[in-house]
Amino acid sequence: MTILVTGGAGFIGSNFTLDWLAQSDETVINLDKLSYAGNLHNLTSLHGDARHVFIHGDIGDAALVGQLLGAHQPRAVVNFAAESHVDRSIHGPSEFVQNNIVGTFALLDAVRAYWTTRPAAPKAAFRFLHVSTDEVFGSLGKDAPAFTETHPFEPNSPYSASKAASDHLVRAWHHTYGLPVLTTHCSNNYGPFHFPEKLIPLVIVNALAGKTLPVYGDGQQIRDWLYVKDHCSAIRRVLEAGSVGSTYNIGGWNEKANLDIVRTICRLLDSLRPRADGKSYQEQIAFVTDRPGHDRRYAIDASKMERELGWKPAESFDSGINKTVQWYLDNQAWVANVQSGAYRDWIKTHYGATT
Ligand code: NAD
Ligand code: TYD
Repeated sequence: MTILVTGGAGFIGSNFTLDWLAQSDETVINLDKLSYAGNLHNLTSLHGDARHVFIHGDIGDAALVGQLLGAHQPRAVVNFAAESHVDRSIHGPSEFVQNNIVGTFALLDAVRAYWTTRPAAPKAAFRFLHVSTDEVFGSLGKDAPAFTETHPFEPNSPYSASKAASDHLVRAWHHTYGLPVLTTHCSNNYGPFHFPEKLIPLVIVNALAGKTLPVYGDGQQIRDWLYVKDHCSAIRRVLEAGSVGSTYNIGGWNEKANLDIVRTICRLLDSLRPRADGKSYQEQIAFVTDRPGHDRRYAIDASKMERELGWKPAESFDSGINKTVQWYLDNQAWVANVQSGAYRDWIKTHYGATT
């Protein structure tokens, strides 16, 4: 048995691939275009493992995807591939439209062509799992109830709008063509291999480098944090038992204001790796200009996952953030590699050109 994972060299996709192969002998075909966020060093521990087949390519390349599906005959596709950073989407929305919308369209259509011709039993068992975000639901008021699966889509950033558009395509491919799809909406993830452009890894990395810790606006925006390995177990569970055509909200029940997150990281570093001058890392916090259109609050009601699929996150925020800070302290070479661009050089050497 085989599954096709897209975007499996990124933050969540690489954690998912590692997790999957730690628990199963089912081969992972990993299709990733290795954008700036894709990093094969995340998968170094799989080197020489025949259960992991890496393919450098774009989900928008229908011919390549069709050829991969025909050759490997996966029983499922798990689609992580996307541009994922809100700030980048504000500076350059075109990449988001191309990869997240046009790319998902091409992937869906290639998968449909493959699925249509499958024999009855594998056709019935096939699943296309699309990984989406809570950001498609827009911003919540301070006391509003958390997002359920039926919350209307109100995306506010080019990123969330592109994800919402891809979700609609996935829904339509089920409704119109019968493709057996599952869609998950997850809250903010954190953990190992998180690219240091996002809040949590950026703060850890900047703190250790003696740089400022930029807090947008008043720092009171709220996100609902989920340890990445809990997201991986949730996706496995949805793939295994999710009801075709359904959507599932995945979250950690951990609403935190950004400033509290930054202070928590500073306190952990103060005890694990004290500054040479004995002062707190909190001295490095700097309030900076707010993100345009900054969503104030996200919160996921993950009770459907628990009620219907028996899934709950295993980590509390305290345990997850401890593990994460420790991982960054233990993996300074990974950080240096990402920052120096050495991994991009490696890609150039290996593949001839960067994407
Ligand atoms: P990431 O930016 O770390 O990784 C994305 C990966 O996709 C990269 O390896 C990149 O090279 C690849 N990719 C991008 N476009 C591609 C294309 N056209 N073809 C093939 N590969 C392509 O992102 P992430 O944080 O790992 O997020 C993975 C998915 O989860 C995304 O769909 C994102 O929207 C969703 N999500 C992320 C979070 C979060 O907190 N990070 C939360 C909810 C949902
Ligand atoms: P981010 O990690 O980019 O995820 P998202 O925008 O998808 O939620 O940002 C998390 C929160 O942290 C968000 O409210 C923006 C804020 N933020 C900062 O305050 N400073 C920063 O330098 C970054 C990158 C984010």
